[in-house]
Amino acid sequence: MSDNLKRLQKVLKWPSSKPKVASFDHGYFNKSNKKMFDEVLSKDINTILELGAWLGMSARYMLDNTQNAVVISVDTWSKYGFGEYDERWHPPYLKDKMDKMFEIFLVNCWDYQDRLIPLRMRTLDAIKLMNKLNISPDIIYIDANHEYDEVSKDLEFSFKYCPKSILVGDDWLWTLDTKDTPVKRAVQDFCKKNNKRVKVIDNWSWIIR
Ligand SMILES: C[S@@+](CC[C@H](N)C(=O)[O-])C[C@H]1O[C@@H](n2cnc3c(N)ncnc32)[C@H](O)[C@@H]1O
Repeated sequence: MSDNLKRLQKVLKWPSSKPKVASFDHGYFNKSNKKMFDEVLSKDINTILELGAWLGMSARYMLDNTQNAVVISVDTWSKYGFGEYDERWHPPYLKDKMDKMFEIFLVNCWDYQDRLIPLRMRTLDAIKLMNKLNISPDIIYIDANHEYDEVSKDLEFSFKYCPKSILVGDDWLWTLDTKDTPVKRAVQDFCKKNNKRVKVIDNWSWIIR
């Protein structure tokens, strides 16, 4: 691990003992996400920045499918992000788990500590931190808040502060009211503005080149 990543590891140290909560295997990660990662993960990938980690399902997939890559998983694990129970997108069995998300994430990912750096902060602060610590992720996986302004900012900040990173994400057709698909719109507008192209996989995952 590079010295810069070692410095980043000090921002949030793993606890010395496993939190006393049960692991819980839940996530927003499907076949299309796997296909997308299988396309971008290679032995040349050393650092991945994940924006939106939830309970660690995508992080574990990236770690399981790379040999030495370090995954930096960013989430507030709080009410600000996704942490407040909302029946529009959370199944009822999650209701009593929402205030323990961070601890469940740590337990779910406990065996990956040597290559997984959790950062409990907002996405834009994490992206700026990469730049400050001179860390250039090979891939940035955008999967935090799915509203237009938030996705647009995640894209813009990533491009500004980490210009070499491959930007990927999911939820292409995510919608709350079926009239708008904000992720798709944000990615398309970003591509148009910056003269980039997007490849969409199964109408769900996307890769910007
Ligand atoms: C769709 S979930 C991520 C799913 C995850 N990749 C998986 O494999 O299951 C979105 C996550 O983004 C987080 N989030 C939303 N907005 C955020 C923000 N501005 N900064 C940090 N985390 C945020 C939420 O707390 C939530 O855990």
